[in-house]
Amino acid sequence: MITKPKGTKDIYGVEAKKWQYVSKVIDEVMEKYNYNFIRIPVFESSELFHRGVGETTDIVTKETYDFTDRGGRSMTLRPEGTAGVVRSYIENKMYGDDNKPTKVYYNYPMYRYERPQAGRYRELTQFGMEILGSDDPLSDAEIISLAVNIYKILGLKEIKVNINSLGDKESRDNYRSVLLNHFKGHEDDLCEDCKERLLKNPLRVLDCKVDGEKEIMKNAPKTTDYLNDASKERFEKVKEYLEVMGVNYEVNPNIVRGLDYYNHTVFEVEAKVEGFGAQNVIGGGGRYNGMVEQLGGPSTPCIGFAAGMDRLMLALEKENVNIPVNESIDLFLLYVNEDEKKTAAYLSNELRMNGFIVETDYMERSLKAQFKQADRLNSKYIAILNSEDLKNNEIKIKNNKTKEEDVISLDALIYYLDEKLALEDCDCEDHSCHCNHA
Ligand code: HAM
Repeated sequence: MITKPKGTKDIYGVEAKKWQYVSKVIDEVMEKYNYNFIRIPVFESSELFHRGVGETTDIVTKETYDFTDRGGRSMTLRPEGTAGVVRSYIENKMYGDDNKPTKVYYNYPMYRYERPQAGRYRELTQFGMEILGSDDPLSDAEIISLAVNIYKILGLKEIKVNINSLGDKESRDNYRSVLLNHFKGHEDDLCEDCKERLLKNPLRVLDCKVDGEKEIMKNAPKTTDYLNDASKERFEKVKEYLEVMGVNYEVNPNIVRGLDYYNHTVFEVEAKVEGFGAQNVIGGGGRYNGMVEQLGGPSTPCIGFAAGMDRLMLALEKENVNIPVNESIDLFLLYVNEDEKKTAAYLSNELRMNGFIVETDYMERSLKAQFKQADRLNSKYIAILNSEDLKNNEIKIKNNKTKEEDVISLDALIYYLDEKLALEDCDCEDHSCHCNHA
């Protein structure tokens, strides 16, 4: 048997319905915030991620799926969405659009060669959003509050937002030298990766999962103590707007994020779900003002966020959030002979085109087995097609729960189902919802 690759999963049945529901809610919320969906390639030239995400990141040094295509080009499966979005922004000259800033979102699989475990996959799905072209602290606050609101709307109760500021280039450079001083003479206490990071990008040392608990890490100077006045002021504004929007957050100076491209605001969202362990970070993002220019576009301030869909789905499940999925159909059409089958074919086509969820038999089942199948599908109504009735242009239709039965004119079927199903879906007592109860 050929099995799925390590770190991937099949999503089907009720689970797939839940994913679709969550994606639909995300689409609806993004529309309210006026973000447009963007579809970018699954693979890009490897250079994009080396230059965009950063040469020293775990993602680029250890986790990319790289391949040489048949034309000898070096390609990489996207490990995240931001670099591809920026490439597309530059290539399609979106910066020339009068409609500023550019607000886009995405929701699709990414690929990282990580050690798989619960909540950590090699094919992971992220939904994310990016605002390109605004440096207003309100755009930072919008992204953070939007992330929080999506989780809230979906029903997650216990989420925590950790925010931090890495400051502008001057603040980062200043902090970088303080940090280098702090680790000077302690290089041997660090893991091999960190020794290398210290040379290339010392900030990333703080993000180490191996050395995280060591004293030298815990005593490390904090980014927020080394912000220059402009960066400090900017961070204060972001916090003010978050407060106006009623977003609960905590400033956590240990948040530096695992990608090289950030400056100023960085943040992560944690789900407080018991037993979730290290995978409770369900999303993260921040400002990346230098990336567009670094990839060959005009200087453009940007901010974004990406959430792990896989982790979000696990969090919803652990918190017992009820995700509405439709596990019933409106009507099952039963038949015995070929003429009746043709009518079933005709009616199922018509009814589906009129918005009803309709099924019939494609398995040469006996009539008895068709009744069973209708039950299995939780069919609200069943119609027994019978040549005699059909000759009189009539159809026998039955409520599959109450077993109440009507014989109606075929021409009235759509009207009949409309009425009955509207009643079924409604539980008001006084017709206040205009449900045609009367
Ligand atoms: P990231 O922190 O690398 O950020 O990923 C965002 C989220 O994706 C994580 O918080 C986590 O929930 C999920 N995730 C990451 N790796 C895995 C995995 N192997 N399995 C399951 N879930 C995973 C970014 O990707 C940035 N592009 C975010 C961003 C957008 N920054 C600015 N704009």
